[in-house]
Amino acid sequence: MSSSYCSLALIGPGAVGGIIAASLVSRGLTVTLCARRAVGELSVELLSGPVKLAPTVLTDPAQGRPVDWVLVATKAYDAAGAAAWFPGLVGPQTRVAILQNGVEHRERFAAWLTADQITPVMVDIPAERPSPGRILQRGTGKMIVPAGPAGAQFVALFAGTAINVSETPDFKSAVWRKLCLNSVGAINALLLKPTGVFRDEAVGRLALALARECLLVGRAEGAVLEDSLPETILAASRQAPPDAVNSLHADRAAGRPMEIDARNGAVVRFGKKHGIPTPCNEMAATLLAAM
Ligand SMILES: NC(=O)c1ccc[n+]([C@@H]2O[C@H](COP(=O)([O-])OP(=O)(O)OC[C@H]3O[C@@H](n4cnc5c(N)ncnc54)[C@H](OP(=O)(O)O)[C@@H]3O)[C@@H](O)[C@H]2O)c1
Repeated sequence: MSSSYCSLALIGPGAVGGIIAASLVSRGLTVTLCARRAVGELSVELLSGPVKLAPTVLTDPAQGRPVDWVLVATKAYDAAGAAAWFPGLVGPQTRVAILQNGVEHRERFAAWLTADQITPVMVDIPAERPSPGRILQRGTGKMIVPAGPAGAQFVALFAGTAINVSETPDFKSAVWRKLCLNSVGAINALLLKPTGVFRDEAVGRLALALARECLLVGRAEGAVLEDSLPETILAASRQAPPDAVNSLHADRAAGRPMEIDARNGAVVRFGKKHGIPTPCNEMAATLLAAM
């Protein structure tokens, strides 16, 4: 299948979904958006410039027809809602890419899809949706997929876009590396303060503790993570735009559910599996869940 003729449906046209759709449309592909409410024109500010999208939008899963690729960009906690689209969109040849945080992409959708149908995606695309029709890209976009035929097809979809997409033979390390970064983001959600808060010395020490716990658990799961990763994450957080808001923080600020279970909750769960204490992540997950 040439990616130029690929039929694509994207479930969840939020911050990441909007950037993905605009990037694919900008390279000449057509993307049908699957949303749970009506979406009008979307104004997406990519780093490369503004893009106006007037997409075909489906709001009823019964309207879906099989496509070559389904891209799922809902929050992890909306997996069941996203799965309601699969009977219409997923045919025998359809591949489903899960563009979400966490380390359990296949497990999260195991009730609806076989492991072979799923392409898990490590997403590193800083993006915000200040209002339903407006999406902002806040940093360079990068995605990583497992190496193989599906991974190669996924990479080809994004050829010519500004999003750097690559295959890796060690996807486990890629997602645990990202989870170490995500574990630290709980601090922003707890304090309701953007990235600039990491410049505080004591907050920085707490960030290191969260990331170190995640690193040890990730290694126990088989990820290859260097000792210096927590310090690298803290240094990058201190250099990032001080007003940047991660998606956990954005969700709490908007009164939406948070991806606690997929992020700090996963560190705690996998830590228990390996007998590794994760007190900082457990406190963060417990406090956020209690809010
Ligand atoms: N934002 C970032 O900077 C960033 C960076 C890296 C990774 N991620 C990860 O990427 C994933 C998506 O995050 P996000 O920030 O893009 O989330 P988001 O802005 O909240 O977007 C999620 C979208 O999914 C839609 N949705 C929910 N249930 C649906 C359903 N049943 N059918 C169709 N659409 C549905 C939501 O609709 P409504 O408009 O109705 O809410 C929303 O448009 C998460 O796992 C996140 O952790 C995010």
